[in-house]
Amino acid sequence: MNVLLIGSGGREHALAWAISASPRLGRLYCAPGNPGIADVATCVDLDVADHRAVIGFCSENAIALVVVGPEVPLVAGLGDDLRQAGIACFGPGRQAAQLEGSKAFTKELCDAANIPTAGYAKFTDADAAKAHADAQPLPIVIKADGLAAGKGVAIAESHEDANRFIDDCFGGKFGKSGAAVVIEEFLVGEEASFFVLSDGTDILPLATAQDHKRVGDGDTGPNTGGMGAYSPAPVMTEELIARTLEDIIKPTIAELARRGSPYQGVLYAGLMITEDGPKLIEYNVRFGDPEAQVLMIRADREQVLDALEAAASGGLGETQLAWSDDVALTVVMAADGYPGTPKKGTRINGVQRSSGGADVVIFHAGTKLADDGSLVANGGRVLNVTARGASVMEARERAYAAIDSLDWPDGFYRTDIGWRAIEREKQSG
Ligand code: AMP
Ligand code: GLY
Repeated sequence: MNVLLIGSGGREHALAWAISASPRLGRLYCAPGNPGIADVATCVDLDVADHRAVIGFCSENAIALVVVGPEVPLVAGLGDDLRQAGIACFGPGRQAAQLEGSKAFTKELCDAANIPTAGYAKFTDADAAKAHADAQPLPIVIKADGLAAGKGVAIAESHEDANRFIDDCFGGKFGKSGAAVVIEEFLVGEEASFFVLSDGTDILPLATAQDHKRVGDGDTGPNTGGMGAYSPAPVMTEELIARTLEDIIKPTIAELARRGSPYQGVLYAGLMITEDGPKLIEYNVRFGDPEAQVLMIRADREQVLDALEAAASGGLGETQLAWSDDVALTVVMAADGYPGTPKKGTRINGVQRSSGGADVVIFHAGTKLADDGSLVANGGRVLNVTARGASVMEARERAYAAIDSLDWPDGFYRTDIGWRAIEREKQSG
């Protein structure tokens, strides 16, 4: 089976690395890919926004399955256009992708299907939004409705900050994504992520993970796309997983099917584990980045392609995907300046040298090859040093040891990835 993977980050490198281990794989292409992905796939230059060009490539190269990494092509309807052309696609269509594309869509779906989530109100003009925010207790959670690359959420600690963010949204800071605003109740608890596959009807639970969104040690500084992650998330007990499936995931998949927009792909539930149990914070319609990296290193690689294909084509109910009991942990190495303007083009040495061990894999997130063939930084998040071990502590030691063997003076990373889980490990002896 020939596969086309869409994307260029660490998530896609992890997916490509797993897919490439399938005994059923013919050729793996990736558009556009990156130098790490090029080790396991043929990178191709395709304009992913041009759906006809993608379909044409699939026909010419006998592609049986397209796996879409990021959300933007899904919200743009690439999944629908591929399926209409008779090509299986891992990733929901435009309508179901609204789970990530519109915060208000998800809130309204939660209402319709009685799914536990934070109380909310939706606004399409600034004055009404501000009047509502002024009457809320602090902190106030305010979200631009549409896609905003993780920047469209404010936890306002004062009513002035709330009003300022509302003005930003309606003032065009997030473009069309800010034309509507959702104001939510602030949930208290521990955050965790849960990933499932769905073929529209059946659900295959994958695994749990936790990430680290702030740029600095001790969860300080601005938000990022994620500076590290580990899987499983110790807070997600078997009981909480079962409740999340029953109360949140199953009603969502059923409601989308009922509406005629079945969900085919991976559903990423961002959860708050509150005193009253799990509540949905948000959905994403793709794997997390860097959560995919820790999931893929724990999954039975030989089975990953089969599971992705079953989600795209049906038959997920008969599909198995085995998981290692190991803990996986990934540390993101970012370029100086991130999450502001990252320094580009700086040279990274030692990646080849340290990527060989089976317990450590270095996924490329934002790299490119310079004209002289050397590896250089080409983005904010640049490398994901990913390790597995019998405990969080062991996985963490391996990841940081691998980082020590790299030579990249212009990058930085958090030194405390996994701290919450390690504290738990220490407490339980
Ligand atoms: P989102 O993009 O919706 O995941 O929001 C980004 C981050 O904001 C989440 O990961 C949470 O840390 C936080 N957040 C979002 N909504 C809430 C809420 N209702 N209560 C508390 N924290 C929230
Ligand atoms: N790491 C968070 C995300 O992928 O949305």
